[in-house]
Order: sequence, then C-alpha cells, then structure tokens
Amino acid sequence: MAGDEPGQEASPERQTAELGAGQGAAQHSAEAGAAEDRIKPGQLKTETGEPSADDKPEKHGITPELVQTFLDRFLPAGNRSVVKAYKYWPVATLGEGYTTVRKVLEVTYCDEVKEKEEVVNFVVKLPGGMFVKECRDFGLYEREVVMYAQVVEVFRQLLTSRGQPVLLPFARLAYGTMLKDGQILDERGQLAADQRLGEMMVLEMLTGYEVVDKKVGFDLDHVRLVLPAMARFHAMGYVLHQKHSERADRLRSVRLEMPDDLSQFGLALKPILAVLEHEGLLSEAAAVDRVTSANHFIDGFNRTFTEDLDVVTLVHGDLWISNMMFKYRTDEDGVRHPEDIKFLDLQTSRFGDPAFDIIYCMLTSTRRALRRQHFRDMLSWYVAAFRTQLEELGEKPDQLAPWLSVDRLYSMYGNALSNSWIQAEQVVQMLFSSEEDRSLIFSSNDKEAAPKAIQTMTERWLAGKCTPELTVRILEIIDELEEFGCLK
Ligand SMILES: Nc1ncnc2c1ncn2[C@@H]1O[C@H](COP(=O)(O)OP(=O)(O)O)[C@@H](O)[C@H]1O
Ligand SMILES: [Mg+2]
Repeated sequence: MAGDEPGQEASPERQTAELGAGQGAAQHSAEAGAAEDRIKPGQLKTETGEPSADDKPEKHGITPELVQTFLDRFLPAGNRSVVKAYKYWPVATLGEGYTTVRKVLEVTYCDEVKEKEEVVNFVVKLPGGMFVKECRDFGLYEREVVMYAQVVEVFRQLLTSRGQPVLLPFARLAYGTMLKDGQILDERGQLAADQRLGEMMVLEMLTGYEVVDKKVGFDLDHVRLVLPAMARFHAMGYVLHQKHSERADRLRSVRLEMPDDLSQFGLALKPILAVLEHEGLLSEAAAVDRVTSANHFIDGFNRTFTEDLDVVTLVHGDLWISNMMFKYRTDEDGVRHPEDIKFLDLQTSRFGDPAFDIIYCMLTSTRRALRRQHFRDMLSWYVAAFRTQLEELGEKPDQLAPWLSVDRLYSMYGNALSNSWIQAEQVVQMLFSSEEDRSLIFSSNDKEAAPKAIQTMTERWLAGKCTPELTVRILEIIDELEEFGCLK
C-alpha cells in the first residue's frame, strides 16, 4: 500500500537512484557508493543491476511479438517500425519499489520511414516482494494500469480539446496487463491474446530524471515544483469528478479489499508509543494510543477515500519522495535546480480528500522546520496552480471551485491530519528504522512472528534504542499534530 515494505533484495540503508539509464549507468555505481553518505537533494547517481542468468524476458512472457506490440502502441500512430533486437536487465532495487520488481527493456528498432535505427528504453514493472496477494486484493496492479491507460488518457483528451499542451507529470504507458476475474486483460480492457501473461506494466523510461535522497527530504526548491504539480493533478481529477464522472467508472470498479488482518496494523504503531514514553511525553503517548487502533485506521481511511466529501479530487495516495522523479537545470553558478517532475506509482490512486496527498507528502518528505517557516506559502503555490489548471481546462475557478483558498486548504489540512498522519508515520518509521529493527520485522514471512518482533522492537525503543533520526522525525510529526490540535 504505502509501497514501503521491503522486498527481499532491498537494501534500505543505501540511497541510489534507479534510473537504469542503460549499461553506461553501471559505471556510475562506484561513484554512487562513495558519495552516498553526503548526498544532497537531486544529486543521486544512476545505477542498474547486473543481468542474471534467469533474467530472461521470456520468463515474463515477453516474446519478440509482444515487444513489437509495445513498440507499436508506444510510437505515434502510423509509424512503421520493426524491432531488431532487445535487451532486458533488472533495475537495481535499493530501498524502494517494494510492491514490484522492475526491469529495463532496451529495444533497438528500425524506423522504416526515416530508414534509421533507433533505441528506446522501457521500464517493465512486475508484481514482486512479500505482499503480492495483499497488493492484488487491494487492486494495486490493476488500478495502476487503469490510471495510466484510462484516467491519464482522459486528462490528455481534455487538454488537447482545449488546445493546451499535454504536459502531464507521468511517464507514458506503452502496454499493460491486469488480472480481472481470473482473466488477463490488456490496458485497453480487452482480453490479452496470451492468457499465460501475468500482470505487467511497460512504461516509458524517464531518462534524465532522478530521485531525491529520501532521508534528506525536499528543500524549498523541490516543494515549489511538487505542490503545483500535485495541485494540477488534483485539479484535473476534480474536473473529471465534477464533469465527466462516468469516465472514471472503470477506476471505481477496481477491486479494493482491506487486508483481513488489520490487527497487525495497530501493532506496528506500538514502537512510536515507546519513543514518546522514552522521551517522557506521556500525555502525547496516551493520545496517540487512542487514535492508532486498527478501527481508527479504517474509519480514517473511509473518511478520506470517499466521494461523499465537500471537496473530492483524485488522490494519488502514495505521493512521497520515493514516488517522484526530477529533471534538473544548472545555473551560471553551477547550482542545480529541479525544473520538471514526474509522479510514479499510481497504484493507490482513487477519489477522495486532496488534503491526504498534501499531508502524506509533507510528513514523509519534508522537515518540520521548512513547513513551519513556509507552510502558508506552500499552500498558496498549490492554490495558484489548481486555479491555473482549472482555467486551462476552460473552467471558471470561482464557480467550479469556490472553496479554493489558502485559508480553506489550511483548515482541510488540519481536519484531515488526524486521519491521515498515521499512514505517513508508517513510511517514516520504516525509512528511519535501523537495519536491526527492520530485519526484526521483515526477516520472517510468518505472520505469527510479527507480534513478537514488534514486542521486541517496542522494548528496544523503550530502552532508547530507536535510531536518533527516527526519534527526531517522530517528534516533528507529534509537534505538528499538536499545532493542529489532533492530540486532544
Ligand atoms: N518509468 C520509470 N523510469 C525510470 N525509473 C523508474 C520508472 N518507474 C519506476 N522507476 C524507478 O523504480 C522505482 C520504483 O518504482 P515504483 O513505480 O514506485 O514501484 P513500486 O510500485 O514497487 O513502488 C522508482 O522510485 C524509480 O526509481
Ligand atoms: Mg513506489
């Protein structure tokens, strides 16, 4: 769900972009390793994994004919291109991508009109990690294909019909398959020719884009790009909901079953209580204890992801630093500035309260000091971009979205915070846990072992053995909850 449960091969302490920019990127690995202690936002190097003997495209049903299909669907209509060769290798999975495995597919083709050989790189995303069944129950794989192939397609059409450039913060989908009622459908919702295929997404590889060090978090320069991009996404989702609601019915039909054992969830929050108790914050611990039960989580979830709210937009649902990539420009002084952004990982997108995305992004990916100093500015960037996007879609913001103001957004943030902070905290807890704590939780697939592991971890944390970074981050979140009156 939060996309933050480590797969077996994840090495969370390392920070590496996963751009996988071809074999040339492999030579960056050594530099990336040396630099990883002191990486600033936007300075991650790229790295690819080494192909392994069993890393054959056929293993995932990728035949030469299918590669030709990827190409035909990806290139503009009417092109005449023929696949000449392709290579397949894993994207190094270092600390993220916990619900999928990703491969790079490099395709060399001949453009028969231009009589030229060209190369295109795709990222192939396949189910993987420890929670494939849960992801399927929660509709994650299906939802992502539907989002890319249908919802983003509606955005594209809305923008085109207004004569607007189609500048969407998403990679383009070349091909996708989803499992629906035991059958494999392609991204258009048609029965896939080969029913032996599994779920698969084939996306344009975002060459030239990088991920930011998730432990450092965003600086103001990045937030200035992130919030407007989020606002534009929300605004398009708002128009979709208000004016073309039936075009989102396929998204609504994606199966969504809560994992049956949510007791694990409340349990996983016990360590925060331990930190608060260790820090002597007993009244805060008592308040957190009240609001972190599994029931409270379900309530909050149901209140956030419903279409029965005053303001409903599409909500990305997992919009944190690890699910965004940036392109940079370098100014005269050699300083790099982010100038373009892409959102990844549309697995949890649904209609709901836009404040969720803001809260989740802020708490997981920025520091409290930055928010304290600039929070209203940040919200004003969001409001301005939302407004511009509505105008670009031919709408009158004052009529279609009379609620849109910084003050209103501020209160929406405060209201949603008490429901939404828990999901962000889970990500933070995972991100800043020590290797020892993580392996306690994830060393076993056995559900029975989890309560014991959490008990041991809680005891360690009560004894002050939580990482100092995590203590600081938890206290920052608690501080924010207090400011908004969520711990009363
Ligand atoms: N289209 C893409 N181009 C380049 N890198 C990508 C692309 N898609 C994913 N990645 C890399 O893979 C990582 C995980 O991808 P994501 O879609 O978030 O998978 P998951 O759903 O498993 O979290 C991203 O953080 C990014 O580094
Ligand atoms: Mg992800």
